[in-house]
Amino acid sequence: MTSESTVPGVAAAEVAAAWGRARAVFLPGAVSVSAWGGPIGETLAAFERLRDGANFLDEIDARVGDSEVFRYAGSTVDHVDQREIERVFVDAVEGRAVLFSDITARLSWIADDPSDLSLRVRFSYGHESLDEWLQDLGGMPWAGRLCNEVYPEAAAIEGATVLQDVLAVCAGSPVQFGERIVYNNAPGGGAVFHHDADPGQRGVLFTQLAGTTAWLALPREELAAALARCAGLELADANAALDEPMTEATWTLLNGDPQLTHAVAEGGGLLVLEPGDAVLLATHDLQCNTWHSVFALGDAPSLAYSYGLFPAAEANRDGINGHDG
Ligand SMILES: [Fe+2]
Repeated sequence: MTSESTVPGVAAAEVAAAWGRARAVFLPGAVSVSAWGGPIGETLAAFERLRDGANFLDEIDARVGDSEVFRYAGSTVDHVDQREIERVFVDAVEGRAVLFSDITARLSWIADDPSDLSLRVRFSYGHESLDEWLQDLGGMPWAGRLCNEVYPEAAAIEGATVLQDVLAVCAGSPVQFGERIVYNNAPGGGAVFHHDADPGQRGVLFTQLAGTTAWLALPREELAAALARCAGLELADANAALDEPMTEATWTLLNGDPQLTHAVAEGGGLLVLEPGDAVLLATHDLQCNTWHSVFALGDAPSLAYSYGLFPAAEANRDGINGHDG
């Protein structure tokens, strides 16, 4: 990426500076969705069926049942996690040989609130509770390939040269997409303020393919400053209030205080994502990352894809979907 960015109005130096400070990198029109209207419509319809009680395995089977690569291995329901609806396991195979086992597609409600009908599907592998995916990144290309076969419109994201250019500037070394999540936010649904600083993860790329979402997104240090101003706290105390575990008072301030919301928006932290827009969130470490909250606008469920950015393993540099930044 040269100083003349391919993103209109966004220069590479600005992108790199924003990324370094964990400011959200907004990329309007980064992905062309015009050619993907059919698959996007089919995915939205599939989520409607799931909301009405359709079987997730049936939906997966209808989309990849004929795959020569993926073979159904089982499905489970986690009765401890009330939000989980169903998890489908597949193996990647070549003939009779299993190339990678226990690749998962997990359908769940996003919120604990039963009135929020937002759904999501997370693609991963291994035992999620043991964070096996963190210990061996080798399954990420397979989980990504399953995502792309189940949701073919995801190819619009990987094919977007603008995103590849921006990732090259921000990540500085090759990255791969991992822990892909497909979001189907119901109107008004979304996520309260949080960060995504998982170990080993460099950032998160969120791409809107249908509908509209409103975001509050800003660096942790700016959120702490806004919290200090609005709550009359010392900056050090506001910073500490963002650490885990968060108190109910801090939660209420972050998510229910109009003064804080206004302050974040005034500081440039309000983004509205339309189809084709993307936003890049940094997760440098627990102190330097992009905090964000998300709300679905409009009167119909939206569709968006959230990808973690992880170092591309040596073995994946020429792999099936590693991103050579
Ligand atoms: Fe997030």
